[in-house]
Amino acid sequence: MSKEKIIIANWKMKISLSESKQLAQDLIDPLKEIKGIEIAVAPNFLSVCDVADILKDTSLKICSQDAFWEQQGAYTGEISPQLLKEAGCEFIIIGHSERRKFMMENYEMIHKKTKLVLETEGVTPVVCIGENWDERKTDRRDFVLFDQLQQALGGLKFGQGDRIIVAYEPIWAIGSGTAIEPAEAEYAHKVIRLTLNDMFGKDVVDENFQIIYGGSINSSNVVGFLGLENIDGMLVGGASLNAEEFAKVIKSFNK
Ligand code: PGA
Repeated sequence: MSKEKIIIANWKMKISLSESKQLAQDLIDPLKEIKGIEIAVAPNFLSVCDVADILKDTSLKICSQDAFWEQQGAYTGEISPQLLKEAGCEFIIIGHSERRKFMMENYEMIHKKTKLVLETEGVTPVVCIGENWDERKTDRRDFVLFDQLQQALGGLKFGQGDRIIVAYEPIWAIGSGTAIEPAEAEYAHKVIRLTLNDMFGKDVVDENFQIIYGGSINSSNVVGFLGLENIDGMLVGGASLNAEEFAKVIKSFNK
């Protein structure tokens, strides 16, 4: 499994179809020379095919913002991991906090989605966890992370070559403009890694898992996260919507 660090751009529902194509195009030049780090972009569903086509001769990969937990059938409005793979996705974000908040997604759904994505060859789930402000204020963060990991991943089996990314995104930091202190992120990532070690064994975690941070990362604060032992990458929202700024984030994190 690739042990390069990874940066994923989450474009959310923030830009139009034509802006998505333009942004993909704008990324090609600034990212051409970058080596030694994996980069993926997550456009809206409708733009996935166009963006995949624009980036097909580059090293940039495509990520979906969600997927359904069945592969095929009478599920109006849903999109399966298989379809996303066919459209060019290699990563699928599961259970982003905005889906938990606005679409009432819970960890039972997240578990089913993660399981199916893992069973779909060629796509990697990016499973989101993270506490809200109230949970943090009352010192419940570690328990929340433990509980979310148990619910999302408990009972799943990992074979050789299976890859899974856990994204730690403290909900209160997302879109706030202020990332959490790198030392605090490192601590939370360690809690996550130790919990995963308990659940699956250290060898499996070392081989199959990566743990990335998300929440108000930009080109100025990302350097603080460099070299931290348990931080394998970044999920970047707002700062990924401008090609120059996103390229700066990547360059600063890839030293
Ligand atoms: P943000 O979003 O970088 O704009 O805080 C991150 C995310 O929600 O994945």
